[in-house]
Amino acid sequence: MANLPTLRLFFALWPPPAVAAALQRVATEIARSGGRPMRVETLHMTLDFVGAIAADRLPALIAAAAGIRAPGFTLSLDRLEYVRRKGIVWIACSESPPALAALASDLKASLRRDCGLDPEPRFLAHVTLLRNVHAAPSLPAVPPLAWPVRDFLLVRSETRPQGAHYTEVARWPLCVLAPG
Ligand code: 2AM
Repeated sequence: MANLPTLRLFFALWPPPAVAAALQRVATEIARSGGRPMRVETLHMTLDFVGAIAADRLPALIAAAAGIRAPGFTLSLDRLEYVRRKGIVWIACSESPPALAALASDLKASLRRDCGLDPEPRFLAHVTLLRNVHAAPSLPAVPPLAWPVRDFLLVRSETRPQGAHYTEVARWPLCVLAPG
């Protein structure tokens, strides 16, 4: 039987251009002491890494994500970390809004319940800024960077000669909260 085509997919938050540009400036500064900065158009925060799945399962994934009802929120990215085990530098939030963890956990629950997937239960909120960092870099202090999150995406990942290439497959809005 012929192999079904597969897609390598993940759910993510994608920063608006001004936030991505600010993150790239931080990455470029750190890269002076080694490592490869992520290209600006690839900067993101993964909510759940699905991995390679048969293309005919895509509609179920899209239906599961479309059923998520979650509020928008603002992230304050302010903490750089060198993850030696992975050779990466990422940026995270000292204080993460509960709505972020709730979004990731609702999404993972729906992928488990409605798509028969087995998502990694752990969610580590971060944006990878550099890869191939082989020695502990000196990390600058970063003023908190505000990232208003208004939607989440399903993204296709492909490996091309110039590196990872990400394509938006679908995008869903988060709810606007009424002023309290
Ligand atoms: P990382 O940046 O911490 O490496 C696309 O590959 C995105 O999915 C990346 O943000 C990556 O996180 C994340 N991811 C999580 N688990 C992964 C896995 N097993 N393989 C590849 N990427 C993974």
